[in-house]
Amino acid sequence: MIAFYRRSALYSAFFAPSPEIRAAIDRLLRLHLRRKPRRVLDPACGPGLWLSHFFDQGSEVAGSDLEELAVKLASARLPARGAMVMVGDMRRPPDELGTDFDCAINLDNSVGHLPAYEDVVEHFKSMRQRLTNKGIYLIGLAIREPNDKIQTGVVYERGPVDIEGGGFAALRTESLGLQPQTRCERIRQIAITANVPDAPAVIAEQYDLLTFTFAMLRDILAAAGGFDVLGCYDATDEGLPAKPFRKSAGDVVLVLRASAARTVSQRGARSVVKSSVKSAVKTAAKSASKASKKSAAKPAAKKGTTASPQGASTRKRNPR
Ligand SMILES: C[S@@+](CC[C@H](N)C(=O)[O-])C[C@H]1O[C@@H](n2cnc3c(N)ncnc32)[C@H](O)[C@@H]1O
Repeated sequence: MIAFYRRSALYSAFFAPSPEIRAAIDRLLRLHLRRKPRRVLDPACGPGLWLSHFFDQGSEVAGSDLEELAVKLASARLPARGAMVMVGDMRRPPDELGTDFDCAINLDNSVGHLPAYEDVVEHFKSMRQRLTNKGIYLIGLAIREPNDKIQTGVVYERGPVDIEGGGFAALRTESLGLQPQTRCERIRQIAITANVPDAPAVIAEQYDLLTFTFAMLRDILAAAGGFDVLGCYDATDEGLPAKPFRKSAGDVVLVLRASAARTVSQRGARSVVKSSVKSAVKTAAKSASKASKKSAAKPAAKKGTTASPQGASTRKRNPR
């Protein structure tokens, strides 16, 4: 697991939702649900930052996360009445959390932490069972085609900031790009801390996040029983402006609703997912090998003329 997620005070200091993104999420709910949600589920809730947001607005909330320490912090943040948080896997959130949620939220490509695309199908299937007929699911994920170029180098940098409980810390996140064999985006993250209780001075780690081609995502949603896409929003902008739901859409927040009718048989859909994943991986591997042949054929670039991803300092994207 990712060590940073075990340090909930650090996580909260860097990733607490800003007033701007809270307002944008509330706007999407007014638009697609037409009222405040009554029951909200976060299946990878971390320290419960989004759950608190909704609890404070009067919703009943429930959440689960693989990280025990994050769940402890979420429980401490939320009162016992009207909130339930427990350790659990988003592939099948614990039954005790209940059903009849009119809203589920899972932003920042947390679903990208799952080990394989088949697990994502399991996740969407469980979410379908948890939502009411008209319930909506706000999910953040990355839609990338095999030949898409993505911004590499530093994609997020912040600090030093004060940490609740004492000390201060700085965080830097880099993207190492898409891995052609797996279609995952490789993330490298370094946190430096000073006087933060129970935290090492340096937390350095690297992990891969699943990304989705447009076709793959459609197949996955169908294999899970079917979801309609009610809206697509640009997750690189905290105001979440609308953007077209299409190939190469990039980092997005989708608003999903379970479709009324199942159009594809479960078994058929699962094999479609397998073959669409296979074909995306094949295309990506082909284009990577073409690119590496091209660069091997080229003379070495003169010192100072190549853009170094290490030197980039944009803070637009925040893959976690
Ligand atoms: C980017 S954080 C999001 C936390 C929270 N939803 C928020 O918005 O603050 C991703 C979370 O996913 C959790 N996670 C990773 N894999 C998981 C899994 N299979 N089931 C449940 N939680 C998982 C991590 O422990 C981490 O807390």
